[in-house]
Amino acid sequence: MDTVDTQALESKVKDMYERVAHDPHGDFHFEMGRALAERLGYSPYDLDRVPAPSIDSFAGVGHHFELATLQSGEHVLDLGSGSGLDSFVASLKVGSTGRVVGVDMTTAQLEKATELRQRGGFSNIEYVQGYIDQLPFEDESFDCVISNGVFNLVANKEGTFKEAARVLKRGGRLALSDIVTAVQLPNGIVCNATLWAACIGGAMHREAYQQAIQDAGLTIQVVQPNPQYDFISDQASGATKKYQVQSISLVAVKL
Ligand SMILES: C[S@@+](CC[C@H](N)C(=O)[O-])C[C@H]1O[C@@H](n2cnc3c(N)ncnc32)[C@H](O)[C@@H]1O
Repeated sequence: MDTVDTQALESKVKDMYERVAHDPHGDFHFEMGRALAERLGYSPYDLDRVPAPSIDSFAGVGHHFELATLQSGEHVLDLGSGSGLDSFVASLKVGSTGRVVGVDMTTAQLEKATELRQRGGFSNIEYVQGYIDQLPFEDESFDCVISNGVFNLVANKEGTFKEAARVLKRGGRLALSDIVTAVQLPNGIVCNATLWAACIGGAMHREAYQQAIQDAGLTIQVVQPNPQYDFISDQASGATKKYQVQSISLVAVKL
């Protein structure tokens, strides 16, 4: 079976999310912005306290802060932090004694998040450029790992779940939202780097996705569907109906 060309994929993903950072009101397969964030469950109270341009470029697929149950003083890692909305929300929840680190591979996203962090005085956040399947952090250094709409974009999903588990402390949580499918995608879609970069081609079958999390040593506690999330282009919504591409949120614990 053919697989996606990982170099072509990385370059498509970087191009796509550079546009998301620079031109959030452009034409995309997926929705972005405040109306989406509110529909997914972000509270207007939180959204009013974070930099508005990070909301404009918000390209997440769910809301998992109730599952993450972040506490004051905790250390949080945001995988694929994008323009920063989730790391800003996490920063509010962990407060000045806590710490949030966002990791992303796309320079434009990191630059935007870093500038917004400086302008907004979010001194408990740090952004690091890197690949989320090779994290530059020590074992057991975070209380919670969060991620929104990112694992589906990564070719090495199993390795990325293992990295998330490695950097979590015992008792720590992985709380994420992501795109999965109920029907195995055919090769033509899996090998289409453009559909992959649009969060569809790389979506894993839901059961295999959950198994990969368990195989990484995490115990899934809650999985919930996000029926409020939908793709908007004709090409994307055709594929999502046919293969039951869907958004879920979940929390898994390192026992
Ligand atoms: C759909 S966007 C979501 C961004 C952010 N979480 C949000 O909710 O707006 C996916 C992000 O993951 C990043 N990304 C994708 N694959 C990555 C990888 N292997 N390593 C690091 N970042 C990656 C992209 O650069 C992009 O910023």
